[in-house]
Amino acid sequence: MTKIRAAITGVGGYVPDYVLTNKELETLVDTTDEWITTRTGVKERRILKGENQGVSVLGIKAVEQMLAKTKTDPKDIDLLIFATVTADMTFPATANIVASAVGATNAFSYDLGAACSGFLYALATGASFVQSGMYKKVVVVGGDKMSAILDYSDRTTCIIFGDGAGCVLLEPTTEEVGVMDAVLRSDGGGEKYLHMKAGGSRMPASHETVDKRLHFVYQEGSAVFKFAVTNMAEVAAEVADRNQLKSEDITWLVPHQANKRIIDATASRVGITEDKVMMNIARYGNTTSGTLPLLLWDYEKQLKKGDNLILAAFGGGFTWGAMLVKWAYNSN
Ligand SMILES: CC(C)(COP(=O)(O)OP(=O)(O)OC[C@H]1O[C@@H](n2cnc3c(N)ncnc32)[C@H](O)[C@@H]1OP(=O)(O)O)[C@@H](O)C(=O)NCCC(=O)NCCS
Repeated sequence: MTKIRAAITGVGGYVPDYVLTNKELETLVDTTDEWITTRTGVKERRILKGENQGVSVLGIKAVEQMLAKTKTDPKDIDLLIFATVTADMTFPATANIVASAVGATNAFSYDLGAACSGFLYALATGASFVQSGMYKKVVVVGGDKMSAILDYSDRTTCIIFGDGAGCVLLEPTTEEVGVMDAVLRSDGGGEKYLHMKAGGSRMPASHETVDKRLHFVYQEGSAVFKFAVTNMAEVAAEVADRNQLKSEDITWLVPHQANKRIIDATASRVGITEDKVMMNIARYGNTTSGTLPLLLWDYEKQLKKGDNLILAAFGGGFTWGAMLVKWAYNSN
């Protein structure tokens, strides 16, 4: 029987208009453009401003753009998965809000939370539904409004993150393209290094949690850095090795954008040069679940059918993983 693969057949993306520069951050916390640039690679990030503007705003725009580009009737969508850690509300799922807003009235939809690896996990999940023959059109969205959970008096976290969302459409194919392989991992032992203390069922919101500033990202940066460097590089190399890909066979590395130094270490581990590494950290910072689809959106025009992409991510949980995607179409 012919194997069904899940091909990415379209990409969408959206970042909000407001640009928060390193210079502006210098006015908020004790930092410098020079420190942020050399230690992280971030120059500016986008921020979603305004009352009642949740991450769904970003996701809806990304999905609408992708549907228009691919001329997809939203009623044909079977499933929409939204990877995020900054859902509009605890419930309903942001995926439900996005699916309804874009007119995907025949789809079922749910959120998936795996921090910076969220899009990778969601892509693997969505692909499985297509590969099994169960569904024909699956939309996978990754997006976060990190500005909603950042403490803009904490210089160790507020400089890194930004807001944004991207998405892909998955459809079945019998060609040798699409999602080819994935290595996915998690380790709950990472909780102590990267988490948000309050607002969940363990520590619901109270005056005390607000007073103690517990509704923000807590990160032990240098510990997370060490785990990220080792693990993201390892899984990227593992997925390349087990698919017999030498460095010259990899067309693009698509790495999570948490820190330029982590990206460089991963590139060097799989033996590829910077011109083959997708990068948007300078313009968007770390958009958590939004990063990987935003990279695909940024580089879509340069991609050709048959290109080997290694996607790799590391984030809170800890969660991490890497995936081999063979690009399915030529843009233009
Ligand atoms: C957060 C991160 C950028 C900090 O960079 P770092 O080089 O590790 O810096 P350190 O935390 O060791 O701090 C070094 C010094 O810089 C200072 N510093 C931290 N942030 C600063 C800032 N924005 N501006 C100026 N100085 C800063 C620290 O206070 C510390 O000062 P000290 O030596 O006087 O105590 C880096 O650790 C990182 O990228 N971590 C991984 C992030 C990640 O991958 N997350 C997972 C996905 S979300």
